Amino acid sequence: MEKENVSRPGKQSKLTAYVLVAAAIAAIGGILFGFDTGVISGAILFIAKQWNLTHKQAELATSSVLVGAVLGALAGGVLGDRLGRRLSILYATVLFLAGTLIVSIADGMTSFLIGRVLIGAAIGVASFMVPLYISELAPAQIRGSMVSLNQFAVTVGILVSYGVNYYYASTQNWRAMFAVGAVPGLILLFGMIALPDSPRWLFSVGLREAAEKVLRKIRGTPEVTEELAEIDEAIRSESGGKVSDLLAPPVRLALIIGVGLAILQQVTGVNTVIYYAPAIFKGAGLQSDTAAIAATSGIGVVNVVFTGVSLWLIDRVGRRPLLLWSVAGMTVALMVLGLGFALRGEAAEAGGGGLGLITAVSLMVYIAFFAIGLGPIFWLLIAEIYPLKLRAAGMSVATVANWGANFLVAYTFLTMAAVLGKAGIFWFYGLMGILTWFFVKRLVPETKGKTLEEVEEYFIARAGRPPKRQEQSGLRRAS
Ligand code: BGC
Repeated sequence: MEKENVSRPGKQSKLTAYVLVAAAIAAIGGILFGFDTGVISGAILFIAKQWNLTHKQAELATSSVLVGAVLGALAGGVLGDRLGRRLSILYATVLFLAGTLIVSIADGMTSFLIGRVLIGAAIGVASFMVPLYISELAPAQIRGSMVSLNQFAVTVGILVSYGVNYYYASTQNWRAMFAVGAVPGLILLFGMIALPDSPRWLFSVGLREAAEKVLRKIRGTPEVTEELAEIDEAIRSESGGKVSDLLAPPVRLALIIGVGLAILQQVTGVNTVIYYAPAIFKGAGLQSDTAAIAATSGIGVVNVVFTGVSLWLIDRVGRRPLLLWSVAGMTVALMVLGLGFALRGEAAEAGGGGLGLITAVSLMVYIAFFAIGLGPIFWLLIAEIYPLKLRAAGMSVATVANWGANFLVAYTFLTMAAVLGKAGIFWFYGLMGILTWFFVKRLVPETKGKTLEEVEEYFIARAGRPPKRQEQSGLRRAS
């Protein structure tokens, strides 16, 4: 019979060195994600010069990775279920290395674009397969920080890309800029060869003995019968695992949360800051290139540091409070940013350059609040809220929405800034922030400390189906 909530099997397991190493290796996938979305901002200047690109071609070269990521995320759902989490990451890494090679030796736009789309596809798969893989290995009590290692790696990847851009800028060697990505790529490749697949996936495809073996290894104890039984029970209570089941009541809410947060994470403007920071700083009055670049690196550092803070807080404070604080802080910062631009507009003739400081500070505050919450928690939640058989499919849909929205925002930013004005666009993102806050408040449940199977029970209970172990499923209802 079931015991008390606190003593349920998945929750007793401790962090072992093995799980930590496995999570750290898989999280290198996040470095690829961050590095390749960041490196283009520097490289494109030299490619455009060397190949005489038109404005449209340069835009295409920049956004091709996002198109690839949408395609990769789409295919990733099927891959994750058929091949397993580990092989999916492994194949994505091979694709990434092939794309990196092609881009580094590209002799024209066609081969360059092919390489960038391949890199994008690899990142599209890895962006959700890595959190998925880690979530299925991690003990419940520290799953938040372990899964968020991936987001930490994303921010490190972005920062490294700024450094690499800076390093090669004097020689204009854009090929070398991309080639650096092969280093984490190769480490991930060899690392994933050595790691086992997720015990939950192994179990779901009937490889029970293999699942048990992996579970013993990662938990560092032969006593895994109870955790296996819990996984088994969850799988039995699930429906067939067809993609259409994503729309059935218990999963529908999880789908709405996943896709909603995916879009809101992007339409609150984070990537306009990541991609266009130097331009924003210059527009705000930081006159010199060096000052704009230094301020941009500052953004990268703040992003890494506060994602680190989030790793520490996420399993202590919980996902909901962190998200609510994060979105509130981002919204205030966006409003101030808009105000800064509005005032500067008026004060421009009078030489309102001092407002550059307001811009710099509010952008830092904005990114810090993003990093403690909405950044990591979106990727964490989508790895927690879907039932095992639909986890890869549900994450794939949310990830497609995320990369799709990323693409749209990147594409519309300059046009929107022209139509709404610089102040208007940041106020618009601020408005989206308010919407996000209410969305979280109303719909997002607290998943801190719960096993993935308990989270599953919560959604069943909330959809009104008689839950099997409702009394133990101590998830708080979002109110
Ligand atoms: C987002 C990316 C963003 C990154 C910045 C991620 O969570 O999905 O779009 O570039 O955070 O740190």
